[in-house]
Amino acid sequence: PIEKIHAREILDSRGNPTVEVEVHTPYNVGVACVPSGASTGTHEALELRDKDKRFGGKGVLKAVKNVNNVIAPKVVGMDAAAQRNLDMFMLELDSTENKSKLGANAILGVSMAAARAAAGALELPLYQYLGGVNAYKLPVPMMNVINGGKHAGSGLAIQEFLLLPVGADTYHEALRMNVETYHTLAKILKDKYGKSATNVGDEGGYAPSIGTTREALDAMMEAIDKAGYKGKIKLGIDSAASEFFKGGKYNIDGKSLSRDQMVKYYAGIVKDYPIIVLEDPFAEEDWDGFVAITKEVGKKVTVIGDDIYVTNVKRLQKGIDMGAANSLLLKLNQIGTVSEAFDAATLAFRNKYKVAVSHRSGETCDSIIADVAVALSAEIIKTGAPARSERTSKYNQLLRIEENLGKAAVYTKL
Ligand code: PGA
Ligand code: ZN
Repeated sequence: PIEKIHAREILDSRGNPTVEVEVHTPYNVGVACVPSGASTGTHEALELRDKDKRFGGKGVLKAVKNVNNVIAPKVVGMDAAAQRNLDMFMLELDSTENKSKLGANAILGVSMAAARAAAGALELPLYQYLGGVNAYKLPVPMMNVINGGKHAGSGLAIQEFLLLPVGADTYHEALRMNVETYHTLAKILKDKYGKSATNVGDEGGYAPSIGTTREALDAMMEAIDKAGYKGKIKLGIDSAASEFFKGGKYNIDGKSLSRDQMVKYYAGIVKDYPIIVLEDPFAEEDWDGFVAITKEVGKKVTVIGDDIYVTNVKRLQKGIDMGAANSLLLKLNQIGTVSEAFDAATLAFRNKYKVAVSHRSGETCDSIIADVAVALSAEIIKTGAPARSERTSKYNQLLRIEENLGKAAVYTKL
């Protein structure tokens, strides 16, 4: 049973306050930290911020109080392992559609910390507690090596340029391939654009002043080639297109494109580069854009919905019905409980959608998404560059999980 819950305000990787929660049982303490996005979807569950003088309004003391004074007294005594009961109880307590009363950051902190506490009490690794007998697949690490959009001052419209080491046999080999390519890319960018080109953005990827998507893709291709992984590492991009969608047009590479022109734009780069992932290629309400690109390239490209779905089963069901995208980006804090995120994954898998478990641009060193990815048998994990500890903590946790699984570990074939 849960004996005590305590929340506090800590800092995330951007120096913004976030919520950390401890769930105490008679056997141990489960601790979890909540991440925070920058290019957030409009329909995400509400992240409660104080909006007062502290931290430029970004304090989370209201959310902390909601955990300590509202949630804690009511859930002490509940079984930490009764994850779904706990999550549903908090949903009722909040009683709003988007968790605006208690805050998704308050609710998720408790939800994740309870899972940790229960796993610890049962002396199980978290991935095994959450995924049981099915938890043995290591996801493809989709690594963000060039940062643009809202995550950097690089000038690139596309937010993330991603490496997918699909030709590896094991997770640790995949990780090494990516890391070697990332370091090779640094040399290439430095030679071409000068020393400052290897300054990094919010997710640890380089942020060179590059004007166009193709220039960035060219640099990545050169890095893959020089690192010796031609054909073994494929490419992906997260456009986060809501961020460059203004007045009905997509502003990219110095041009202003319509939806149809955007479809052609993507079809062009998919033809010319080994791109196997397009995430958020259209704005969050441009369902028809998603349908069009999925029709155009969906047979060979993993089209991932992030801001459009926000890990929400209602929006995901709508997308499935329309044929918008063919994969789901799963972010725990978009929806606010572990149970609801698992529901979104279940719905995705039942409809032959792939699932990519994702960090946020504002992170902590909490590595729960590594365990969640293995628990769900998610095909992909996206957690930034292999730089800065809030990013590497997830990649490193997957190394531990792979080692813990031993011979049972299987690296996902996309
Ligand atoms: P965010 O970006 O965490 O800033 O929302 C991540 C993403 O768009 O995938
Ligand atoms: Zn995204």
